[in-house]
Formats: sequence, structure tokens, C-alpha cells
Amino acid sequence: MLRLSLAFIVPLVVVLGVLGVLSMQVSGPLLQGWTQRELDERAGLVSKALHGAIMLSLEEGNQSELSQQIESLTEDERLYAIAVCTSPNAVLAASRNYPAELACAEGRDATTRVGPAMARWLSQMHVRRIDLPVAPAAGGGLVSDAAPDGGHVTLVVMQNPAEAGRRDQQARNYLTMLFVGLGVVLALLFITVANWGWRHWINGVRRVLSDGGQAAALGRASPEIQPLLPDLRRLLRSVHEDRRILKDTTIEWRPETLKLLLREHLSGDEVIVVSNREPYIHQRNEDGTIRVQRPASGLVTAVEPVMRACSGTWVAHGSGSADADVVDARSRVRVPPIPEGGEPLHDAYTLRRVWLSAEEERGYYYGFANEGLWPLCHIAHVRPVFREEDWQQYRAVNARFADAVADEARTDNPVVLVQDYHFALLPRMLRARLPRATIITFWHIPWPNPESFGICPWAREILEGMLGSTILGFHTPYHCQNFMATVDRFLEARITQEDQSVSFMGQRTQVRDYPISIPWHPPADDALSRAQADQSALREAMGLSPEHRLAIGVDRLDYTKGIVERMLAVERLLDRHPMWLGRFSLVQIAAPTRSSLEAYSALDHRVREEARRINAWAAERAPGTPPPIILLIEQHDSESVRRHYRACEIAMVTSLHDGMNLVAKEYVAARETGDGVLILSRFAGAASELHEALVVNPYHIEETADALAKALTMHPAEQRERMRAMRTRLADFNIYRWAGRMLLDAADERQRARVQDRIVQVSGVVAPEGLFRAPWRARQAANGGSPAAAERGKRAHKV
Ligand code: G6P
Repeated sequence: MLRLSLAFIVPLVVVLGVLGVLSMQVSGPLLQGWTQRELDERAGLVSKALHGAIMLSLEEGNQSELSQQIESLTEDERLYAIAVCTSPNAVLAASRNYPAELACAEGRDATTRVGPAMARWLSQMHVRRIDLPVAPAAGGGLVSDAAPDGGHVTLVVMQNPAEAGRRDQQARNYLTMLFVGLGVVLALLFITVANWGWRHWINGVRRVLSDGGQAAALGRASPEIQPLLPDLRRLLRSVHEDRRILKDTTIEWRPETLKLLLREHLSGDEVIVVSNREPYIHQRNEDGTIRVQRPASGLVTAVEPVMRACSGTWVAHGSGSADADVVDARSRVRVPPIPEGGEPLHDAYTLRRVWLSAEEERGYYYGFANEGLWPLCHIAHVRPVFREEDWQQYRAVNARFADAVADEARTDNPVVLVQDYHFALLPRMLRARLPRATIITFWHIPWPNPESFGICPWAREILEGMLGSTILGFHTPYHCQNFMATVDRFLEARITQEDQSVSFMGQRTQVRDYPISIPWHPPADDALSRAQADQSALREAMGLSPEHRLAIGVDRLDYTKGIVERMLAVERLLDRHPMWLGRFSLVQIAAPTRSSLEAYSALDHRVREEARRINAWAAERAPGTPPPIILLIEQHDSESVRRHYRACEIAMVTSLHDGMNLVAKEYVAARETGDGVLILSRFAGAASELHEALVVNPYHIEETADALAKALTMHPAEQRERMRAMRTRLADFNIYRWAGRMLLDAADERQRARVQDRIVQVSGVVAPEGLFRAPWRARQAANGGSPAAAERGKRAHKV
């Protein structure tokens, strides 16, 4: 806007300045000339008007007629005085205010007669002397005989100089106004032409973009566009390719699709992931050997397959007891680890570990991240705790990770994927170190409303940090809206709802929803036999009959997961429907997490206590039967978890609040036989995609108990129908698509930045922001973006 205003104002000021000087230079002499001519002409007219009367008065020797005419002429304020002299000393007739003592004397003679003061005054008057010839007889001796053929009288016409000056000034003003008017017209003309030129240029670019580059290809693009053609062609190619991929509903989103996308759209650019939790943890066993542990983290589950497809670098906290023993001198290790005697993996990538002291971990991880931000963002009624020293550690650790990423970057513009609430400050810190990087930040947990977020004493700093990102992703549109509303409340930023972006401190951040998902694999050929084997094996291992009905719950032992509410729902089911006593159990796998925090150790205690109480209560009612709650507070690897999914015909996901919850999706993906029932909390992000689940309010124990009863008696045909719909959606919206959409948006942004740089180079003008947004919009339209958006699109279509 500023540039645009300058483009208007500068030419205007320049043109006016030039014209001002011109008008000063030209108008002075011009006006003087005009005034002089006018005075002379008026004196001439006076002489013509009086000539007859003069002749008459000379002939008749009577001046009264002449005097009358002179008086009537000097009524005109422009004529000050008039005199007619027959010689320098003799006045024939004169107006009343003519200085009589002057007669018609000139020069020194005049000064002598009237004195110096009057002479000074006279010098300011415009005095014109005109000799008028008279016939010899006419003079009657009155006229000087200086001329041999007769004589002459002298007419003296004095004109008012003040009056002439006033008119002069008036004329000067009109002239200046004329010049200014001319200047404004010229400036407007200049601006209109410049504006037309700019629009013409922009339209040229638009035409090239909208006709799919046909004109450019045929060499019909206008010459001003020529320097941009290579970039525009590349942009178009990438957009067309995006559209092709995304319009093609038969496309299978697989690791290969992601690889292709990286190669084609990001020209193989380097990808760096940053997260707190590392994907592989090396732990030392008591006997000194090392084992590799996979963390219970939805984030790791989701990002790991993407990383394997991209073969980039993952920067994370080295938290395992043997982590430092397996890295190289730069704290790097190749992962996944190759089993002994195994072949090198084709999809390996580098894990760069960052080491934290116990104090740093306490302040940054346990303190600010997990006692502050985690309860702040989840509505689970655990109060957030904010301590100044935790905040200081959080800042310091974010800066350490920023250094590590900058150290890992091989180019100055890598694509950096920043993960989760542990690194809210990292995007801006990275922007300072790598200004040309494309930073995609994904917030894996919910974003609260502005009032709740305002509890955080460092709300502004957190938002400012996050707005260093190029793209900021949340699971649902609702979390995006909350974020935008929070920015609106706390920062002076420009929010554009139309394209969901925030501009702050010269950085534009797109805020988008990217519902996270899981890898998708088509059903195995032996899916049925494998499921049956798992069902029997689990029941046998637990000492249950083959007919025993099982529900599964898999969570970290976290107060947001609604584990206690879930167990209470089982108790209520058995209370209402005692027929299930001894015939149904919930297998609850709960992976210990953040156990040194009080809220977590209290939850551990409560969960164990509730399980014990409910089992005792059931044992009283149905002695000798299997317990309704089978509680396994332990880590399970992913294969073991999948076996449990296949073995249990019901899954219970009853989170009190959850960004997405991948357990719900994993369960659906694992049910390759097409049966099984998912009970899903409406407060988990997954509920906005998996509509065919039995959706419950986990706080309403009876409702969940009813859902359990319904699940236990649901007809297999209905189970299959619901499961088929959910599986179809997951096959389509899998983790490769999640990453693919983010990376495509990143590629668009990079391309936009490149074209914009080019435009600035060529024209020195910054292109309007909206110019290169169309591809994203078009793709969103073609793609439906997220399942929710696709759903919205379908509804709109139906209407
Ligand atoms: C959630 C968070 C992740 C985190 C995971 C496990 O899913 O969004 O960032 O890694 O919990 O928690 P932990 O503290 O053990 O890493």
C-alpha cells in the first residue's frame, strides 16, 4: 500500500515542483510585458479621445470642454491624472489631482519644480507623454513653434501603479492556478498510464496462468512477461501435476507417491523433522546389552513413515540410556536400526540427537511443555502450572534445537517440519537462522479458545514464535479458528480469513487443517486366518474361553484419555446388563508416561484402584468368572498392539479431549476382516472423520455403557457396513496424504516466493499477495482437502 501511495504521490510532487518553478520563471516577465502593453494602449486611447477636444480648445481658446472631458476620463480609477501642455511650462488643461507645479517638465527640471519627495512619488507612477500635432493656426501662439510645419501639444497620462500591480498579481495567481491544474492533470494522466501498464502486465501474467501456458508456449506472451516465462512454466507444470495427482481419485497414497511428490515438486529438497520424542530409543539392559525401544507416541507413529519416504534428517531429544553410545561424533545415527545380519535398508534416514541436562529436561519438557501447555490445550480439568524458571528453560532448549537444525541444514532453504507444543518458539528462531527455509509447524494437540489460552503468562511470545512458520497445521478447522481468534486477541497481526493466513512482522503464515492419519496397507491375503489365530491366542493367554467377548483400550496413561470414565462405563454396563458378567472384559493397555509428574502418578494410582474395585465388585456378583477389567500398565510394541486390535471385537476410545487420536484409526486399519465396532469420544478429532463409529460423550457414563451394550449385540452386517465406510475413508486419507498435502502447500509457497522474487528482480515491484494463491484454492476445490472438507463439498453439491 505504501509503495502504491508513493507511486502516486512522488510523480505528483515532482510534476508540481517542476511546473511551480516554470511558472515562477515564465510568469514574471510575461505579465510585466502584458501590463506595459495595456498601459501604453490605454494612454493611446486617451490621446485619441482627447485629440478633438484639444484642437477645439486651441481654436476657440476655451478649455472648459477639454477640462470636462479630462475630468470624466479620470473617473476611471485606472487613470490617475491627465494634463495637456502647450510647452514644458504651460498647462492648457489638467485633471484636478494633477500636480500643477509640474506642468510638463521632465527629468531634473521636473525634480526641481516639485521637490524630491514628490519626484520619488512620481517615479512610481506610470507616466506616458504623447506629443499630439496641431495645425499652425490652431495654436494661436499658445503652441510652441518647435516644429517648423506647425506645432504640437504634449499630453501627459499618469496611470495608477497600485491598480496595475493588483491586476498583475491577479493575473499571476490565475497563471499559477493554471499551472497547478495542469500539473494535477498530468500527474493523474501519468498515474493512469502507469496503472494501466501494471494491470496490463499483471493481466498478461494471469492470462499465461489461466490459459495453462498455451500463449507462452506459442510465443504469444507479451514481451514484458518474457523474462518470467521459465518460472511461470515451472509453476504451471507443478500446479497441473498437483491437480492431476489430486483429482485422480484412484490414486493410492503410498510412500512412493510421497517420494514422487518430493522429487517433482520440491526438486528433492532436503527435509528436516524436529520433535522432542525420538522415533528410536536405545536403552541399556541390566546385562549391559542394548535394546531399541519404540515410544508410545501418536506423533512418532505418524511422522516415522513420512520420514522413511523422504530419507531426510530427524532432530530429537536423545532420551535413551544408551543413546549416546550408538551415535557418531556429530550425535547422529542411521535408523531404523538394521537387525543383526540384516541387509541395509533402502528407506533409512538420519536421527540427530540433542542432549539435554536433567535440569533442562525438568524445566522445558516436564515443566513448561507438560505441566503448562499440555493441560492448557486439553480441556481435562487439570490446572496448568506456569513457572518462570520452566519458561526460561523452554526458551533455551528451543534455541538449542534451532542451532541443531541450522547445523544439520545442507542448504539455506530446507523444508523443516516442526512438531508439536514442545517447540512453539522454534519457528521464529529458525527463521532468524535460516530466513529462506520453508517451516511447516504441526500442532498435534488441540488449540483452546482465546480465553483459555490467555491463562499462559507468555501467550504473546508463544504466538509470535509460532508465526515464524510458513505453514501452521492443526488437525481440525475448529482448532485453526481458535488459533486465528487467539492471534486476533493478542497480536497486532493482519488476518485474512479468505485464504486463512496471518501476516505478522513481515512473515505470512498459512493456517490450515491437516487431519493426521496412519499408514494404510491393503488387507493381507491371510487376513481372516491371522485374525482368528490372534483371537484364540489372546484368549488362551488370558485364560479366557473362546467365546469370551473383548473390548480393547490402548493409551498412554494420561488423564486426557478418559481411562477411568471408560472403566466406569464397563461397570455400568455390567450393572445394567448382568448377562455380560464373566462373559465380557475390557483389555486396557496403558503405557506409562511422564510418570514423575504428580498428575500422572495420581492417575496411575486412580486407574489401578478403579480396576481393582470394579473387578472385586464383579467377583462378588459372579464369583469365579474372569475379571471385567484386564489392566496392563506396560509398553507394547506396535506388532503386539496390532495383535490385540485383531483379537478384540470392540475398541474403546473415550478421550476427554484429543487432537486426533490415532488409536481409533489404527483399530479400523487393523480390522482387515471388516468386522468390529469402534466406540469413539466426540471430543477426539477423529470423530469428525469416523462418523460410523458409535460416538459418545465420555463424561456421560450411561451413554458409553449403552454404546457398549449396542456394540456387543450389533449385527455383523451392520458392523461390516460401518467398518467399510471408515476403512474406505482411511485408505483415502492416510498418513501419506497428510504429509503430501502439507508438502504440496509448502511447494506452492516456495514456488510463489520464487516467482515473486523474480517479479521483483524484473520489475522492482512486489506482486500483489493474491496473485499466486489460485493454485492452492483450485487444489482445495479439486481435492476436498480434508475428509471434513470433502464432506462439506459433497453437502454443498447436494444442496
Ligand atoms: C502426544 C504428543 C506427542 C508426544 C506423545 C507422547 O501424542 O502430541 O508430542 O510425543 O504425546 O508423549 P511423550 O511425552 O512421552 O513424548
